[in-house]
Amino acid sequence: MLAVKGGKPTRTKPWPAWPVYDERELKALEETLKNRFWGGGVEESGPKEKEFEEKFSKFHGCEYGVCVSSGTEALHLALLSIGVGPGDEVIVPALTFWATGSAVLMTGGNLIIVDVDPETYCMSIEEVENSITSRTKAIISVYNYGNAPDMDKLLEIAEKHGLALIEDCARAHGFVWRNKPAGSIGDIGCFSFQQGKLMTAGEGGIIITNNRLYAERCRALRTCGRIRGDDVYNVGIDYWWNWWNFRMTQFQAAILLVQLERLEEQTKTRQANSEYLSRRLKEIEGIALLKIDERLTRHQPWPYLFKYDSKCFGNVSVKRFVEALKAEGVPCGGIDHPPLNMTLTAHGSGSRIIRKAKYPVAETAIQEAVTLPQSIFLGIREDMDDIVEAIVKIKTHSGEL
Ligand SMILES: Cc1ncc(COP(=O)(O)O)c(C=O)c1O
Repeated sequence: MLAVKGGKPTRTKPWPAWPVYDERELKALEETLKNRFWGGGVEESGPKEKEFEEKFSKFHGCEYGVCVSSGTEALHLALLSIGVGPGDEVIVPALTFWATGSAVLMTGGNLIIVDVDPETYCMSIEEVENSITSRTKAIISVYNYGNAPDMDKLLEIAEKHGLALIEDCARAHGFVWRNKPAGSIGDIGCFSFQQGKLMTAGEGGIIITNNRLYAERCRALRTCGRIRGDDVYNVGIDYWWNWWNFRMTQFQAAILLVQLERLEEQTKTRQANSEYLSRRLKEIEGIALLKIDERLTRHQPWPYLFKYDSKCFGNVSVKRFVEALKAEGVPCGGIDHPPLNMTLTAHGSGSRIIRKAKYPVAETAIQEAVTLPQSIFLGIREDMDDIVEAIVKIKTHSGEL
């Protein structure tokens, strides 16, 4: 009998705990506490922050890194640093977390929402090309569901039209596309360290780039417009009209330095487990998977996503299927943030949102997708077998639902 109907759950063992920490985080926090440099660096980055900026950006193929308070702010400042403002258009995919779009609205720029590709659920290249106008300034590409849009084509389009390419890597720490780390392919990469992300300090973000001017602009913008005292770099300071504080604390940076040490190994584990799960799920009629581009050689699920076809599960709705899978002991959900075209509004920002009449792929996605959190891929293969067993059990007993 299905667990949702009172039967025994498929899985009762706990899943890997998230976030991961050990003695190293404790030591790093204690060290920071004792050295009494706790806040964000004001003109210069603070000691832990500076070390993290150097190590994280180098790991992701970039020369400069600028720590900030969140992934949302990383995107916001990245857009400002390339000069996006009122009247400028920025192209983003419909299927992403809202912050990708709200960052554009915060600059006063106009948001152009394009549909996603049915095979990858990442931005449709064709729609990007069709949306370019004389006012387009940038494209924000998003790595979603452990996948990537065609980065080669996006780069080609950006170069052809003189646009900036900003990579939203909030869900893509450690990804590699054709030997290039995610974040170093376009002009600027933006990452999040929010609690659920692939590495975390509870909150935080970073901007990485190989463009010194962009980096220095972001550095000044995160700290109320201050520029370095002894190495005054011309960031075009007249341009800045918003004086915010988006600094990160040294405690966050201290934790992130340790989290970065684990990133490669955790990425390999999550990738191996998710690829194994995909091979097994392919065997189940009614479950379909996204096509992960072969050029994306290093990736991991955030979140893992499969398409559910209710017709093969006795017409049980996706909502009921998710309830049943949870009851079997598998943490799961749907796409918890509807597409940008259905959610964001621009009122009060001076911006405009330019929507197409229809977003058939993104709107279908939210009706058929089932997602699994990244942390459950940090365990062993047998954990993946439990997921498969639970799904097969629900399918076999769908008549009970
Ligand atoms: C694709 C994407 N972009 C941006 C963000 C924003 O990051 P943060 O929550 O750190 O502001 C998130 C985080 O949820 C995200 O998933």
